[in-house]
Amino acid sequence: MKKQYIFAVVVICLTLTAFLLTDSSDTIVKYPTGYRNWTHVKTLVLEKGHPLYEAFGGIHHIYANKIALEAYKSNKKFKDGSVIVFDLLEAVNSDNAIAEGSRKVVGVMEKDSKKFKDTGGWGFEGFNGDTKERIVKNMYGECFSCHLSQKNNDYVFSQYRK
Ligand code: HEC
Repeated sequence: MKKQYIFAVVVICLTLTAFLLTDSSDTIVKYPTGYRNWTHVKTLVLEKGHPLYEAFGGIHHIYANKIALEAYKSNKKFKDGSVIVFDLLEAVNSDNAIAEGSRKVVGVMEKDSKKFKDTGGWGFEGFNGDTKERIVKNMYGECFSCHLSQKNNDYVFSQYRK
């Protein structure tokens, strides 16, 4: 009787461990805390009339963490742990100037060649405005399918300006 009891406890523990190890929070892209202190790669304003205006209209700034910056500077493959942020803000036109408006989305690419092997080793996510609400339902269809054109550049469009 006692042995059976111990066996049951062991089985429960193993099941719990397996559950925790496969917890989905491990396979989703993390919110890029502190990215405003990372290195600024470039900025672009997408105006009305541009084919990507509907999805990405406004001002965006691109930031790279230290690991991603190495690859940007050396033109080598991005190592696991690389994170790139696409910080998209409204573009406000006034007094002949284009100013930053409110934040529309924080787009993220996080490199982990094992977790995200179906999307070139990159996990894609978008966080709504200033919140941590996730907006990407299908990273292949909504993000990777377009980044696929940059296969020779490890699926990254932007280049680091010295
Ligand atoms: C229709 C094409 C297209 C789609 C769809 C797309 N992107 Fe991009 N993405 C681009 C382009 C073009 C750039 C480069 C912008 C620049 O150079 O300023 C870019 C840049 C980025 C960057 C900076 C790294 C890089 O590649 O330069 C991140 C991060 C990013 N996108 C995330 C996302 C996420 C997350 C999604 C899905 C919600 C997404 N993208 C969907 C075209 C796309």
